[in-house]
Amino acid sequence: MSCKASAPGKIILFGEHAVVYGRPALAVPVAQVHADVEVSGSTRPGIWIDAPGIDLHAELKTLPSDHPLAAVVHNLFFILHIDPFPSINISIDSTIPVASGLGSGAAVSVALIRALSTYIGQPLPDEGVNELAFEIEKLHHGTPSGIDNTVITYARPVYYAKGRLLETFKAGIPFFIIIGDTGILAPTRVSVGDVRKLWEQDKDRWELVFNRVGEIVDRARTAIERGDLKGLGELMDQDHALLQEMTVSSPELDTLVMAARGSGALGAKLSGGGRGGNMIALALPETSGVVANALKRAGARRVIITKVE
Ligand code: MEV
Repeated sequence: MSCKASAPGKIILFGEHAVVYGRPALAVPVAQVHADVEVSGSTRPGIWIDAPGIDLHAELKTLPSDHPLAAVVHNLFFILHIDPFPSINISIDSTIPVASGLGSGAAVSVALIRALSTYIGQPLPDEGVNELAFEIEKLHHGTPSGIDNTVITYARPVYYAKGRLLETFKAGIPFFIIIGDTGILAPTRVSVGDVRKLWEQDKDRWELVFNRVGEIVDRARTAIERGDLKGLGELMDQDHALLQEMTVSSPELDTLVMAARGSGALGAKLSGGGRGGNMIALALPETSGVVANALKRAGARRVIITKVE
């Protein structure tokens, strides 16, 4: 018997970093990239994990207990009262680049929780998947807001704020987001930690900056729902400027952002933790190809065009 599950990548449209401090943020799933997990029974004793993308081929007991994949298995079997552990093979395959702001860690957790709980015969409901994936996010990057696991678990656009009831949103006019990858690996843990240091040094200043991000997020949500793409683009530019102030942009991200704006994008910003990874640009259907080409010429390693509806 074998069980398979898949989870999409994600992008943050607005509000990264400030969301860690309780402000709202907007995120959408990205179906073009995904994590796929297969769990199957085995005659070989133990739990064997095969994840060629991160060069991991190991038996569970040989992994440190705070390894995110081992933690998923241990936590899930604890919640489901599974003892002794069954002998299984877990195969993990992901097209989501790691450390690039597309939610690779959360997507692997979500797909693994789903495949494993289904294999055990006790499939977790979305709330349970999301809760456990959030615990694993803490191992990935210390103080996560919970937005990555939430948008990936529910696989729909989210307006997210910590501790608030989850809301979704619909675009008044569908729009295209062009995602450009700098190719630079940048673990979220580092940029989130650096923003925390800034905040600890001058809480009053950064709380005001986070308030401004929160206002941008709320205005962006209204612009999306009204189909005001010009306004939405301007808000992206404003959010990027605040992320630069937080020191989480980089020369490579700024180069791609400028290239997008210079080729007709309505707005552009970094997306996710920053310092590397991906940026996003907003374009009309007729200009999205031009913007995508401009990003490639400016050095983007990979470009994805995704539609938000
Ligand atoms: C990462 O995708 C978004 C951050 O705001 C971190 C988080 O919300 O956990 C940088």
